[in-house]
Amino acid sequence: MMLKQHLIFILYSLCASVFKVAGTKSKAKGSQGQFPITQNVTVVEGGTANMTCRVDYNDNTSLQWSNPAQQTLFFGDKKALRDHRIELVRATSQELTIRINDVSLSDEGQYTCSLFTMPVKTTKAFLTVLGVPSRPEITGFTKPAMEGDEITLTCITSGSKPAANIRWFRNDKEVQGATEVNATGKSFTVRSSLLFQVDKRDDGVAYTCSVEHVSLYKPYLTTEVLEVHYAPQLEITHSLIIPQEGQYFKLECVSIGNPIPEPVLWSKDGGELPDIERMIVEGRELTITTLNKTDNGTYRCEASNHVGTSFAEYILFVYDPNALGQRGPDHALIGGVVAVVVFITLCLIIVLGRYLARHKGTYLTHEAKGAEDAPDADTAIINAEGNHVHAEEKKEYFI
Ligand SMILES: *[C@@H]1O[C@H](CO)[C@@H](O)[C@H](O)[C@H]1NC(C)=O
Ligand SMILES: *[C@@H]1O[C@H](CO)[C@@H](O)[C@H](O)[C@H]1NC(C)=O
Ligand SMILES: *[C@@H]1O[C@H](CO)[C@@H](O)[C@H](O)[C@H]1NC(C)=O
Ligand SMILES: *[C@@H]1O[C@H](CO)[C@@H](O)[C@H](O)[C@H]1NC(C)=O
Ligand SMILES: *[C@@H]1O[C@H](CO)[C@@H](O)[C@H](O)[C@H]1NC(C)=O
Ligand SMILES: *[C@@H]1O[C@H](CO)[C@@H](O)[C@H](O)[C@H]1NC(C)=O
Repeated sequence: MMLKQHLIFILYSLCASVFKVAGTKSKAKGSQGQFPITQNVTVVEGGTANMTCRVDYNDNTSLQWSNPAQQTLFFGDKKALRDHRIELVRATSQELTIRINDVSLSDEGQYTCSLFTMPVKTTKAFLTVLGVPSRPEITGFTKPAMEGDEITLTCITSGSKPAANIRWFRNDKEVQGATEVNATGKSFTVRSSLLFQVDKRDDGVAYTCSVEHVSLYKPYLTTEVLEVHYAPQLEITHSLIIPQEGQYFKLECVSIGNPIPEPVLWSKDGGELPDIERMIVEGRELTITTLNKTDNGTYRCEASNHVGTSFAEYILFVYDPNALGQRGPDHALIGGVVAVVVFITLCLIIVLGRYLARHKGTYLTHEAKGAEDAPDADTAIINAEGNHVHAEEKKEYFI
């Protein structure tokens, strides 16, 4: 019993002395390699920057943070500079972390962490402050523009650091603008211009300026929807392809234009519309309730807006239904259709014929071997299967 206790005691002392040696050894190594460690910090303007300085092995030597102007900010846990934005986060023998709130562009620069050993050891940490671009503004467009006007859309964003990137989109398609970057103080003003001549296709088109920057999760977008005024464009649609006497007939004057042209003016053969009950004008529509060959002529619809006046014409030719019965275009049309149908049918027959002939041939060769003298269908199949390779050869030969 006594011996055992003795042994344990000896072992314990031995271990303790070994650990003590190891301990002093590591301490000696520590004070030799005692060095402050920092990291560069990037923060968005207005945000908070944590500046951390660490020492792995420290014998209670003081740490200090100083700013790019070499002013001491914190010496250990003691605040040295009067700046309410700068606060202490943690001060231990192994770490000195301070926080700079509401960071501005002027806070950017090289910060120094010093460890007051003999001699003093220092490490630099660069604080990068990103300038957030302002929301883009598009200028240069006064609504509405006239067709043919030359316009310059300019998109501006300021306050970015580094300089923001501007991209333009016409609806969703990217277009190239001319970009210019100017430094204003520590940040940049970026402007991009698009110069073009507007036409009616630009009416209602959205031009979007997109500002991209490292400080933004997603780009800032500003859109200008163009409004372009242009002269009317007219087109007449008609309800019948072959107008015949006695039929109901309608013409419609389809117009586009901005502003929308109104009203539409109808005329016939350069004069007013004949004042007859059969002819009814309702806005864009001209209706003839019962066609008469006297209605033959050129119909014109005219419309204007403040940009200009346009017209469209339709030549009405009223067919005599009796004349059509003998040699009218209906006949020709039916003849044509019949001819096409006959042609297609013929083609189908030929193609089908060839196809059948080819496959029937193959089929016959398949069945030929063994099937001929088979007593029933099953045997025929069994027999035929054995001759598959043969059938294949035969098929090739047949073709
Ligand atoms: C700065 O430090 C504080 C306290 O340790 C922490 O809450 C905050 O998230 C840190 N901020 C950054 C940007 O690391
Ligand atoms: C460091 O300082 C603390 C008290 O602030 C003391 O207890 C400790 O022994 C010191 N360490 C060394 C290695 O001097
Ligand atoms: C910290 O930033 C400075 C200045 O931008 C640079 O020269 C240095 O290499 C950076 N250090 C690290 C560790 O990134
Ligand atoms: C920006 O810089 C250009 C030259 O690069 C100059 O012509 C222009 O006037 C500047 N604009 C502003 C607003 O300072
Ligand atoms: C066409 O008009 C004329 C006179 O305007 C009239 O005599 C004739 O009966 C009309 N024809 C038809 C088919 O309505
Ligand atoms: C009107 O149409 C008829 C056929 O229906 C034709 O014979 C006649 O020449 C046309 N008249 C005019 C003025 O076009």
